[in-house]
Amino acid sequence: MKASLFGMMSIVLVLSSAYVFAQNALPDSVKALGKDIYQNKCSVCHTKGGVEGAPGQELLSGMSSKAIYAALITGKMKVQGQALTDTERKAVAQWLTGRALTDTKLPSEAYTKFYLPQKVSYESGWGGNPEGTGFVKYSGINADNVGSLKLKWAFAFPEGTQVRSKPAIAGDWLIVGGQYGEVYAIHKRTGKIGWEFKADAAIRGAVAIAPAASGLRVYFADYSTNVYALNLASGRLIWKKRSGKHPLSANTGSVAVSGNTVLVPLTSFEINSTANPDYNCCTSSGELVALDAVSGEIRWRHRVIPEEAKISGKKKNGADFYGPSGAPVWCSPTVDVQRGLVYIGTGENYTNPPSKTSDAIQAIDIKTGKLVWTFQATQNDAWNLACPDAPNCPEKSGPDFDFGMAPLLIKGGNAGKDILVVGQKSGMVHGLDPVCGHVIWQNRVGKGGMLGGIHWGMASDGRKVYVANADNFYALNPGEPGLKAAPGLFALDVATGKTLWYQATPACPGVVPCIPANSAAPLALPGLVFAGTLDGHIRAYKAESGEIIWDFNTIRDYQTVNGVKGKGGSLDGPSPVVSGNMLFVNSGYGMFGEIPGNLLIAFELDNK
Ligand code: HEC
Repeated sequence: MKASLFGMMSIVLVLSSAYVFAQNALPDSVKALGKDIYQNKCSVCHTKGGVEGAPGQELLSGMSSKAIYAALITGKMKVQGQALTDTERKAVAQWLTGRALTDTKLPSEAYTKFYLPQKVSYESGWGGNPEGTGFVKYSGINADNVGSLKLKWAFAFPEGTQVRSKPAIAGDWLIVGGQYGEVYAIHKRTGKIGWEFKADAAIRGAVAIAPAASGLRVYFADYSTNVYALNLASGRLIWKKRSGKHPLSANTGSVAVSGNTVLVPLTSFEINSTANPDYNCCTSSGELVALDAVSGEIRWRHRVIPEEAKISGKKKNGADFYGPSGAPVWCSPTVDVQRGLVYIGTGENYTNPPSKTSDAIQAIDIKTGKLVWTFQATQNDAWNLACPDAPNCPEKSGPDFDFGMAPLLIKGGNAGKDILVVGQKSGMVHGLDPVCGHVIWQNRVGKGGMLGGIHWGMASDGRKVYVANADNFYALNPGEPGLKAAPGLFALDVATGKTLWYQATPACPGVVPCIPANSAAPLALPGLVFAGTLDGHIRAYKAESGEIIWDFNTIRDYQTVNGVKGKGGSLDGPSPVVSGNMLFVNSGYGMFGEIPGNLLIAFELDNK
């Protein structure tokens, strides 16, 4: 039998105990209603013997009431939530946790005056530059002084359990999104809030900053696929537009801006609906949507699976399957200014028949939205959360070898020509010709699995490509027994793809749960690489040798600058951010059995 992604859920039960707060007394009427809703509308999937992949009741009770409520309104349980009244949604969220639904009001000391000089430099987007290389050429931090980095401040997201949005830097400000749609401009040196904005749903991707005639703008998308343009100088909304068309379309990747075009990657909540045997699975396709940066109007829409889904087979329970479907775009688009192309990676098909565009890299013309080439790395990979046993699992299900990360366009490096380098959840790193998508080299660094292989990323200084290989033992690829798991950080030669060094993820005794894996994207500086691990550590590695030269455990007590209780957790998702002599790190990733947390942490070189 195929291992299940959520076989790991039992481990999380241990965690939830760490998340028990003082129980506020709830009114009896709320308790009675909440219990009734849970028993009649939720327990069929969430209580023991329910649906594979659904967190059990104990795990739900360890979440915050706000996180459960958000899941029912704009998150993974949106379909279930739509069938309830708001009173019912609130009641079930509160009954499950035993805690009142709160909206923390930050103390006035959490705020400061916002200012923006005429001229500011900025760095933003998933990989910090259009090419997505995750390389910061100029900063004050280097291999000789990195050892003196000291904790400067910690900012805690209220009611937060995961911190996924990568901050953009503009002058003295970090612009960052949160799990409940909050967006903050946070002062780099003090951690205080200059302005805040409220979006409709979670912001999971990086924030992008780009110039417009009227000044700098801030662009981002929320989980419900709304795209926002704000004025950086005020935090005020300029336009907002829903980019998804399918009722269950979703956004988790970051937006990228190229000239006057905002590029938005789309996936869908259908992957979560597959747990429901009665769901008509599945009809969505991954998409890349281009919006006009000035007005927010939609310019074009690239559907990864060109044909619409139709009835394509019978499920175990006799109902119809629909397909082809899936091939979501989880990752962020990479812009090739010179060729006028945007590159995306795609994921698995949700149902059969498999498409030729799943688990693929695609190049698309930015002006027209026309597909230029597709490189498919893995064929016949139809998989969803119903696998291995529930009715919506497709026949002959595949290994779920998505591309989760944004491709790196490495220009003028030691390859002697431009090369597109991308890592896959199979553990394979591909070096491709950006003109046509042909393979230049390949190197499989690990065994791969549903949570990576290469999950979130890589970075490159032009000479080496630094590869974070998760090989998370809870979700290892059950096939291909000859391959060895190799969690850790690799350096590959950009020209040949050959492995130059490998530094295994250090063990984590005493950490609960201890999942030794480098899943988060790394960040490269001249001479060193920063990379975080699922046990909450951020480390600096020597670029030459892979030697670890600085290590900080983010799981500790904090006095936060905004007066909210802070908790460190797993480092996953985006890379850290470096600006001047400071380093900024997200800590907390309460999903996939990882350690929840709610922090943005700032470090500064100690120049004394
Ligand atoms: C048809 C089965 C099904 C029903 C009914 C259902 N759920 Fe879920 N739920 C799931 C599955 C499967 C997941 C895990 C999805 C994933 O992580 O991708 C989940 C996840 C969740 C999560 C975690 C969301 C997150 O962002 O990690 C919450 C909270 C939740 N459900 C609450 C509820 C509540 C409350 C109800 C009843 C009102 C409910 N669910 C009804 C199947 C179901």
